[in-house]
Parts: sequence; structure tokens; C-alpha cells
Amino acid sequence: MMDFLFARLCLALQLVHENVLRVLEGRCRPRRSREKLLVLFPSASGAVQPFLWKDQPLPDRLLLYPPPFGFKGLKGKVENLLTLLPAANPDVGPEEASEKCRRCVVVGNGGVLKGLELGQHIDRFHTIIRLNSGPLGKHTGDVGNRTSIRMSYPEGTPLHWADTDPHSVFVAVIYKGVDLSWISAMIRKLGVSFWDWFFFWQRVPREIPLDPSRFRLLNPDVIRQTALDFLKYPKPRWRLWGWDQNVPTLGMTALSLASLLCDEVSLAGFGYNLSQQGAPLHYYDNLPMRLMQQEKMHNVDKETQFLHRLVREGVISDLTGGIHCSFCSS
Ligand SMILES: *[C@@H]1O[C@H](CO)[C@@H](O)[C@H](O)[C@H]1NC(C)=O
Ligand SMILES: *[C@@H]1O[C@H](CO)[C@@H](O)[C@H](O)[C@H]1NC(C)=O
Repeated sequence: MMDFLFARLCLALQLVHENVLRVLEGRCRPRRSREKLLVLFPSASGAVQPFLWKDQPLPDRLLLYPPPFGFKGLKGKVENLLTLLPAANPDVGPEEASEKCRRCVVVGNGGVLKGLELGQHIDRFHTIIRLNSGPLGKHTGDVGNRTSIRMSYPEGTPLHWADTDPHSVFVAVIYKGVDLSWISAMIRKLGVSFWDWFFFWQRVPREIPLDPSRFRLLNPDVIRQTALDFLKYPKPRWRLWGWDQNVPTLGMTALSLASLLCDEVSLAGFGYNLSQQGAPLHYYDNLPMRLMQQEKMHNVDKETQFLHRLVREGVISDLTGGIHCSFCSS
């Protein structure tokens, strides 16, 4: 029995590795993921700026909705923050401009990554986007050791910064007004006072040891487009206890961002299978999948359907097969 299970496990590992190599070694076509996405969603605007910069005025459009869809009521605060950020960088990605076709991978934090030993392959992608505190350290064998972009909000950011990649940039995602104060404090190396912690639902880091030129502010239009144009959620509505399941998860937002920055987009570590209640939720801890059923802010089913469609239609590839396993044998 053990031998049988072991053989099946080896076969699964081999299929996953072959699939990743096919993606890495196949032809890279410029702008492919974005163009295919816009074919499926023709009403979506093609030109969304991924980030906001010091030398570009804040568009009025961004003052229509409160965070995370805009900066309504926060004009002064955002404009102050913009002065701390770098000036527009035509090469919006984390690394030097290059003629090379950019293959990117968004590394989700899903338990499906555990034990797949994809680290070396993940590190071969041009741009590697990691989410929240998704750790490296003893997990590098599974998830790699490079980080081009770490994308997060205050409560999700690692308390102790552990990325050693000299090319890393930090992309701040703003969910509430106080997040703007926090990111300003991080860029100015002011720390966060004890009193400020009061406004967060979980401890937040006191420093991010990156040069100010390595901070980016995500344009809320990216989240708005993801919610309205791609997921077809209704116009943002605020409920007494927060947003009504119409806020895309950070992973969905990262996918949208990747479609703007990269030529070909892959996902790894995505997909929650809610019928596997005891399966690990994350690659780095022992929380069970069933916790996902308590999710109130995000609409996990809707996102899963959307991602499934993108993988099926070849807009993106799913390296670990948790969304749609094109390489699994039947
Ligand atoms: C990742 O690991 C490789 C191989 O051990 C090493 O050469 C490289 O410097 C590491 N990169 C980072 C960013 O830690
Ligand atoms: C989820 O898990 C169940 C039970 O193991 C399985 O039958 C189903 O195919 C899985 N769904 C996906 C999308 O992988």
C-alpha cells in the first residue's frame, strides 16, 4: 500500500515538474496574457497604470470610491504619500529594462505547494510576485528564494523582512485610510508607534528595510477593474461591517497586476479545494482548509470560477494544478 502511494506521489511530482518546464521552455509571446484577457473581457479598459508615482497628478477618478477601490476622502493624505514615492519609471517592473519577454509567476500561499519542490523552477521566472508574508527560509525548496515583488497590506506584511533579493520591490495595497499613514512611516523609516497599532487588526511591522526607491503604491484602478470588469461584481457598496464580498483577494489583484507588467503570466500555489477540509490551507503552516469557509470579505467561489476560465482559455497557466489541472491524467 505504501509503495503504491509513493509511486502515485512520484508520478504527480513528475507531472507537475514537466508542466512547469513546458511553460518555462515554451515560446514566450509578448503581451500575451493581457491581450487574451481583454479578448474575454472586451469592456475592460486596456490602459491601466499599475502604480502611482510622485510626478503624476492624482486622477479625479480615484476620488470616487473609498479604499480599496479609490481614495475618496483621502486626497491630502495620498498626495503627501506620493511625494515620498519615486518618480514614474517607464520600466514599471522591479528590474532593469530589457528586451526580453517577461514570464512572471504569482506565487500564492496555498498548501498545494507543500512538498512539490518547485523552488528551482520558480526562481527561473523573470518576475516573481509573492503575497503578504508568504515566507521563504526553510521553504525555499518548494517556493524558491527570489522575490521581485512582495505585495501586501500592513497586517499581511512580514513582521521581520526576510527577502534577500536585491531586486525586490514592495507594492503597498491600500484597504483603509490608516494604511496610507503606515506606508508613509515605512518609507520615511519612522517606525510605527504603539498608539498607531490600535488601528490595525493584527500587529504590523515597524520597518521595511528597503530603499525608498523600492516602494510602489498600487493604483486602486487595478482593484476596481478586477472587481467590476473581470469578476463582474456590482459597484462597491459599503456595509455596516465592511465590504460585501466584493473585494477581490490579494491573489486576484496580483494576477491583474501581473497581466499589466508581464508578457506571460503563470500562477503557483493557487486554488482552494473546499471539499478537502483537512488539507493544508497554506504551504507554511498547519491551518486546515475548512477555515476558508468563514470567509466574509471575498467571494471565493466566484474567483475560482474566473481563474478556472482563464486557465482553460490559455490566458494564464496554473503551474500547480489547484485551479484547473490541464496536465493531470484522467
Ligand atoms: C538563491 O539560491 C541560489 C542557489 O543556492 C543562490 O546562488 C542565490 O544567490 C540565492 N538568491 C537569493 C536572492 O537568495
Ligand atoms: C476537490 O477535492 C475533491 C475530493 O478530493 C475532488 O473530488 C475534486 O476533484 C477536487 N476539485 C478540484 C477542482 O480539484
